[in-house]
Amino acid sequence: MCETLSEAAKKAAEKSFEEVVESAVRVLRQGGLVALPTETVYGLAADAKNPAAVAKVFAAKGRPGNHPLIVHLGSAAELEEWAQNIPEVAWKLAEAFWPGPLTLLLCRKPQVPDAIVGGQPTIALRVPSHPLALAVLQAFQSGLVAPSANTFGRLSPTLAQHVQQDLQNKVDLVVDGGPCSIGIESTIVDLSQNTPGIARPGGLSAEALAKVLGFFPQPCQRATATPGSLRAHYAPKTQLILEKPEALEACAAQLCAQGKRVAVLHPHKMALPENAQWVCLPKDLSQFAHAFYSTLHAVDKQPFDVLLMSLPEADGLGSALCDRLVRAANAFQ
Ligand code: TXA
Ligand code: MG
Repeated sequence: MCETLSEAAKKAAEKSFEEVVESAVRVLRQGGLVALPTETVYGLAADAKNPAAVAKVFAAKGRPGNHPLIVHLGSAAELEEWAQNIPEVAWKLAEAFWPGPLTLLLCRKPQVPDAIVGGQPTIALRVPSHPLALAVLQAFQSGLVAPSANTFGRLSPTLAQHVQQDLQNKVDLVVDGGPCSIGIESTIVDLSQNTPGIARPGGLSAEALAKVLGFFPQPCQRATATPGSLRAHYAPKTQLILEKPEALEACAAQLCAQGKRVAVLHPHKMALPENAQWVCLPKDLSQFAHAFYSTLHAVDKQPFDVLLMSLPEADGLGSALCDRLVRAANAFQ
């Protein structure tokens, strides 16, 4: 089978949209792993109904077995195959935001394999909007698990090259769909409790959700510690330090005086010592989100000792960015 999979991978290079979709579906049907572009981040996709393929996802990422995966679907019509007691609000949210950067946490159907949901009573479901991901899902005609296509705990990939560099030969096929338009993971809305709440802020803002829900959704605790809710996660290899914007220059000067090479990632240029380099991040929050992981991947490859950043405003997409930055910085404390 390995030979066939690598043949499929070779053939996928330089192909038309339809041929790429066909190759991806072929690899998935054979139980292989396909890195697929979505509008949020690249996902590591496998057939959700094939236990051996799901096990390969955990192995490739080095992800603990009790951490649940999001099942991706080609349309909201497939919800009932995976979830039960689906509240009316789920259909309203699906109608408003699918395909798109929204994941719904619902009560799982009893036949959903434990391996997918890590033994939880809930299941996470989403319909992505990237044309390639959607076309593969619709051609595959069944659910695909797809966690972010990165080693457990590390930066999420927003370019095909990020996946190639991180997971190399652990993936049978990497589909290159260009840069992910949103650049930050989907918003997870928990609909398994009485009141809908945000289990993970992401590419769909609470403000946008409020327009459909009729109230501003609050953050909610998940029952068990799952990857995105771990205190330390989404981390670059280089140490990340968060500082207030007004303290960035002084902090960079202090670190440089200790002999450290520092990158300061910020929307505004600043006066920095020789050993420090300013890296521009867009001020506009959706552009910031789009550039976020790519910029971190790029600076992480350079010989810096410290990355210095400030939290953006916490409204709109800023709430997801703050969440990722705080968890990434926690990895170094
Ligand atoms: O944008 C996204 O959501 C991307 C793209 C590829 O779709 N996927 C993604 O998957 O971010 P992953 O596995 O990296 O993060 C999924 C998050 C994790 O924090 C996981 O714990 C949570 O969703 N999750 C999945 N199923 C769950 C469940 N049944 N109950 C609670 N949390 C769940
Ligand atoms: Mg992830």
